[in-house]
Amino acid sequence: MNIKSIILTKEVKNKTELTSAIKKLKKEKNAVILAHYYQDDAIQEVADYLGDSLYLAQQAAKVENDIIVFAGVHFMAETAKIINPSKKVLLPDLKAGCSLADSCPPDDFAAFKANHPDALVVSYINCSAEVKMLSDLVCTSSNAKKIIESIPKDQKIIFAPDKNLGAYLNKETDRNMILWQGSCIVHEAFSFEKIISLIKSYPKAKFIAHPESESPVLDIAHYIGSTSGLLAFVQKDKAKEYIVATEAGILYEMQKRCPKKTFIPAPVEDDTCACSECAFMKLNTLEKLYRCLLNESPEVKMDKKLMDGARIPIQRMFELS
Ligand code: 13P
Ligand code: SF4
Repeated sequence: MNIKSIILTKEVKNKTELTSAIKKLKKEKNAVILAHYYQDDAIQEVADYLGDSLYLAQQAAKVENDIIVFAGVHFMAETAKIINPSKKVLLPDLKAGCSLADSCPPDDFAAFKANHPDALVVSYINCSAEVKMLSDLVCTSSNAKKIIESIPKDQKIIFAPDKNLGAYLNKETDRNMILWQGSCIVHEAFSFEKIISLIKSYPKAKFIAHPESESPVLDIAHYIGSTSGLLAFVQKDKAKEYIVATEAGILYEMQKRCPKKTFIPAPVEDDTCACSECAFMKLNTLEKLYRCLLNESPEVKMDKKLMDGARIPIQRMFELS
């Protein structure tokens, strides 16, 4: 019996079985798995490439396999399809969206852009392909500062969709970009007051944050960076304890890289929710990943014109990164 028929006839039950079934299917189908740090531990473990949004987009552009399984959210899988259109791109759950991308409807954004005809548009990669198509440049949290600084200082800029990242970049680059008022529900859930009292309870801990967090939170951070920036920081820094304000999935890789250090997720306003976890990211499960590889579905399908338009600002970002 070959692996395919074993899988089709047998109910795959536990993590270990699922993981080995995924690995076998991956080989059989010449597929590659790209996973973001915010995915479940088991998904991170089975990934061929694990990283932040910039790294994953760069890897997606280079993939030679027939199938890309994107364990992340929709805009990430869409970006992979745009930059490597001949590949079949699968997303374990097509409903894995992003509150930040959703906070910028393309029609509203087109009208906003029309009100500032002399402005250049820089969009954070956490947006729809339609918004990318309306943009001159795309950036991620790890290259945003560099991308903005590549633009002459007297050039008017619209930055979308994240108002928090935009405000942070305005401070960092000493600019006054026009900001689209979007945000991420996960990074806005952190409680400033509770963080302050946690810092008092752990006086030796360093507080580190993703720039999608609100400015009072960023103002008290010892370090601000993208997910890969935060990881690099805790590896080279001398402290032993860290309070981490970003999606809690990152703690798994932090703990792996620094087993002797302690990582504490930053507290959120509402104690009754798991708000420091991105509900969209967590829609992907190991079981869905297995099924999507098995069925080669759900697939991310896109209009060619949209892909061609959205590719231009992404390629400009790659050239500048
Ligand atoms: P990174 O650019 O750090 O991967 O962040 C992606 C993201 O979705 C943050 O919420
Ligand atoms: Fe989007 Fe926020 Fe989830 Fe990142 S954490 S994918 S920005 S909703």
